[in-house]
Amino acid sequence: MVAAGNENPQFVATETFKYMPKGVVKQGRAELPLHYPALLRSDAYVNGQWVQAKSGKTQKVFNKATLEEIGTVPTQTATDTEAAIDAAYDALPAWSKRTPKERHDLLYKLYHKINEHVDDLAHIIVAENGKTLPDAQSEVAYSNSFVEWFAEEALRAYGTTVPAPNPAVRNIVIKQPIGVAGLLAPWNFPLAMITRKLAPALAAGCTGVIKAPCEAPLSALALAQLIDEVGFPKGVVNVLIAERGEDEQAMGRTLCESPKIRTISFTGSTRVGKILAEQSASTLKKLSMELGGNAPFIVFEDANLDLAVNSLLQCKFRCAGETCVSANRVFLADKIFDEFAEKLVAKASEFKVGYGMDKGVTMGPLNNEMGKKKIEEHIHKVKQAGGDVLLGGQAGEGLFFEPTVVKAPAGKHMPTDDEETFGPLAVLYRFSSEEEVIQRANNVNVGLAGYFFSQDVGRCFRVGEALQVGMVGINTGMISQNTIPFGGVKESGFGREGGPTGIDEFLVEKTLVFSGL
Ligand code: SIN
Repeated sequence: MVAAGNENPQFVATETFKYMPKGVVKQGRAELPLHYPALLRSDAYVNGQWVQAKSGKTQKVFNKATLEEIGTVPTQTATDTEAAIDAAYDALPAWSKRTPKERHDLLYKLYHKINEHVDDLAHIIVAENGKTLPDAQSEVAYSNSFVEWFAEEALRAYGTTVPAPNPAVRNIVIKQPIGVAGLLAPWNFPLAMITRKLAPALAAGCTGVIKAPCEAPLSALALAQLIDEVGFPKGVVNVLIAERGEDEQAMGRTLCESPKIRTISFTGSTRVGKILAEQSASTLKKLSMELGGNAPFIVFEDANLDLAVNSLLQCKFRCAGETCVSANRVFLADKIFDEFAEKLVAKASEFKVGYGMDKGVTMGPLNNEMGKKKIEEHIHKVKQAGGDVLLGGQAGEGLFFEPTVVKAPAGKHMPTDDEETFGPLAVLYRFSSEEEVIQRANNVNVGLAGYFFSQDVGRCFRVGEALQVGMVGINTGMISQNTIPFGGVKESGFGREGGPTGIDEFLVEKTLVFSGL
């Protein structure tokens, strides 16, 4: 049945949701129509060369909306990784001796190069990740904001002088690059999570080996193409691709166990973060871990409700909920529960789900089957526990899923109590006091982001300080910026990316003690 007044045959009504795409999934093969086709690579980048896997193995890359094949890339493993580590290790002495100004200038050239190709980069992201064009354009801008920021930070890796207790002594602390960096990036921001790691590493004078995300490797390769064009010396940046499974695990282990790599920066799940940390123990590497979250989103009775609803739509459904800072548990004060739920359902039912390149589409497909299964499992468990589905709840064709809103029954265990959904499912919980909601918000073993809405200044300080997370959005659902430290507490990891301290993850302090004055 076509919804009344809906002229677009691409969308059909379902019982629960106004529009679900039909006929988007085509399969087969399709070229991505890029303005600059050189950005679409089918090889990895090692030591300034475009290479295939030593084994000759390849894998296909799919458009997550249409399920069409859009590219072929190598499937690399341990031996390929060793070659990239050697290249980065050999390139390190010369690169680390370049002046900060020279590193700044090259990063700036890259910044301008990326700006020339925003449309193509966004198109690649839409296709291989699944997000919408506006989300992908924002990602390109976000990605490049790290290149710009860290180009400038290269010039500001200041040391200090420290007064000595002995009058014949002078102390100077300098900062030096830590060495070769292993950078392991996730598929949900296939460009931004790479530049957030790579730009500070390069600015600090480190060289890098990037493990591109298996599910979305083309953005990393497009970036490598631009890096090559602006003239970074060979071996300074290397990009590898593995296939999900054994080859990927071998690549991760090789990076973590190599004595030539001095730091690992990883964005991904807490489960994998723990494995990488164990593997890195034998060489006592420095680690920066940006792991999963389970963000509380709290709306107090004194909040501006329209602002809170709109912010939740952004925070929960941006990129189909596939961000580690997405709201996962929505706590609503008793007094405003019904009004908020009603407004949320009305607004969320306006999403147009479809291929992110199509006009008017505001939510794309999920990135992969595993993610889709997890959402289905969460919805199944929520229903079993007596949860009330207020909107959506159905999978569409291919990787599509409806935006879903569920009311949690009081006192029942919900899957979202202890695990992030990483998808477009908003579970609404009820609370009756500030103390209660803080206790419940903190009652998880992770702590990446948290959000709350209140117009009471005292409460804003109290709750902001009490939430056990690395980042708090107060009267906003969007916190991500290049200028602030991004990272979590508890099992959401450690280390900070971006902001004034992001470069420190790639620097070591060395103290020079001058005596005999
Ligand atoms: C992430 O999901 O890992 C990063 C999200 C962001 O930077 O906004």
